[in-house]
Amino acid sequence: MPRHVGIIMDGNGRWAEMRGLPRLEGHREGSTSVREVTRCARRLGVGALTLYAFSAQNWARPAEEVAGLMELLRDYLESEREEILENGIRLNAIGEVERLPRYVREPLEKLRAESAGNEGMVLTLALSYGGREELVEAARRVAEAACRGELTPARLDAKGFESFLWTHELPALDLVIRTSGEARISNFLLWQMAYAELCFSDVLWPDFRTEAFLRCLAQYQQRERRFGLTSAQVKREDSQRAKA
Ligand code: FPP
Repeated sequence: MPRHVGIIMDGNGRWAEMRGLPRLEGHREGSTSVREVTRCARRLGVGALTLYAFSAQNWARPAEEVAGLMELLRDYLESEREEILENGIRLNAIGEVERLPRYVREPLEKLRAESAGNEGMVLTLALSYGGREELVEAARRVAEAACRGELTPARLDAKGFESFLWTHELPALDLVIRTSGEARISNFLLWQMAYAELCFSDVLWPDFRTEAFLRCLAQYQQRERRFGLTSAQVKREDSQRAKA
């Protein structure tokens, strides 16, 4: 089972347009997929689930769609609160959260605080999130730490840099799923994706429920993760681990 799964939830607009419905109806149906996939991940023992709910670039969508998405997020935080708390889920957020309207930020911060002690699964909402924005912010903080004399630039390595990312407390990203048949990364978890397995599903996000999620997990389980090693080295390490 992957310890950390990230999902690019794509295809809400097309799902709605195919039915002659406003795009927002696709996002609404997509919230039900969020609930179902979260439940499934929790049940299966996935340690961390990160959902790309709103990108830094999504602010440029029509104002009506942005407002509708914000209202959906607020409703989600209210309607899922009990289930999140009862199921030991810790709610987390990454991104430029300060850009969100107060009516989203407040319930988000409240649920974050209320669920802080939960250890079952960490559910991270990527909100006003961009991978490049995260890297620039990390670089800025590294430079500031260096200026304060708290860090020696020559000693900075990948592990040290990682501690400046918004995801610093999450496990390594194992699997990224993108729905709707598009094969793009779209500024999601750029650094973290370095050794993640990628799964592209043709299913539109509002239709992406337990069965489609299980299919992606099954694909992941078929992959050989080599992290730059040879297949023979990986097999040797696996058999040594099994013996130990
Ligand atoms: C991409 O589909 C999806 C989004 C920009 C928003 C994702 C939001 C949700 C799934 C619902 C709210 C989230 C939570 C956590 C409750 P698109 O609109 O780009 O689809 P298209 O490519 O078919 O137009």
